[in-house]
Amino acid sequence: MVVTGASTGMGAATARELARRGFHVLAGVRRDSDRVPLRANGIEPVILDITDPDHVAALAARVERGPRPLRALVNNAGIPGAGPVEVMPLSEWRRIFEVNLFGHVAVTQALLPALLRDKGRVVNISSLNGKISMAGYGPYAASKFAMEAMSDALRNELAPHGVQVVVVEPGGVKTEMSRAGLAALSRLDDGMTPEQHARYGALMRAIPSHVAAFTKAGVTSDVAAKRITKAVTDGRPHTRYTIGAAAAFLIRASRILPDRMLDRMTTSDLRKHYPAENRGRTTATHTD
Ligand SMILES: NC(=O)c1ccc[n+]([C@@H]2O[C@H](COP(=O)([O-])OP(=O)(O)OC[C@H]3O[C@@H](n4cnc5c(N)ncnc54)[C@H](OP(=O)(O)O)[C@@H]3O)[C@@H](O)[C@H]2O)c1
Repeated sequence: MVVTGASTGMGAATARELARRGFHVLAGVRRDSDRVPLRANGIEPVILDITDPDHVAALAARVERGPRPLRALVNNAGIPGAGPVEVMPLSEWRRIFEVNLFGHVAVTQALLPALLRDKGRVVNISSLNGKISMAGYGPYAASKFAMEAMSDALRNELAPHGVQVVVVEPGGVKTEMSRAGLAALSRLDDGMTPEQHARYGALMRAIPSHVAAFTKAGVTSDVAAKRITKAVTDGRPHTRYTIGAAAAFLIRASRILPDRMLDRMTTSDLRKHYPAENRGRTTATHTD
């Protein structure tokens, strides 16, 4: 098994859960110091930045050298990307896609010879935001929507060749991600022009509180890891697995509700987190 982004959160918990079930896990971390806490029976930490072609090539070589078949690749690494579309610098947009999409494509391409040979499985960790986008979350959601589209294509391309492709869509999970996201948001806020502050200041102030509430209501990494492990090991896997009741409900709702109704749902959810003086006014206007 290969799990990317295993230093913290769902990746670390999934590596541990798979090892507990008796699998040998190559667990990707970016820093030497992150190897130590992960070391356990069945877990072999490997240095892997999924945007570094040398790391990806070294991982493929390690898999080829290994004595075991490659049962699954869990594309879990990810970075947050909150901020208004207008404000997020293009370089940041590219960095978010570099990790949340292209890095996974690179790792998948590199491991495909082994996956095809061993009839392995690709498990892509998307998000509720791979199905629902809302004000303030555009860059992250765009990268996850793209991952969903890539996964649908890959599933159909590889099914005739015995490789299953599964998508996991978590709602809130209590991990390090929210902290990393808030630090990036604060840097973004510092770079905004006065006009942008006038347009998005209230939204920018709502996002940290919204993220905190979303994460607080979420499940633990251990619960998420059990669900990811199910996606990895189910004999006849579903194409998609959600994590948490909110993701299950909202993703189902997104399939049937008209766009304007979804807009109203997400906007009213965000509005609760606006500073009191802005609660009546949002960035979304409804003229129909
Ligand atoms: N937490 C949630 O509420 C939530 C909800 C929906 C979906 N997700 C998705 O779940 C996945 C796991 O996130 P998490 O919540 O467990 O967050 P997390 O604790 O922040 O873990 C993210 C992992 O990705 C790694 N990573 C970041 N950039 C990387 C790169 N370039 N190459 C390799 N690894 C990299 C991080 O390593 P470093 O420690 O080195 O940065 C870390 O191990 C992500 O894809 C995320 O989008 C999370």
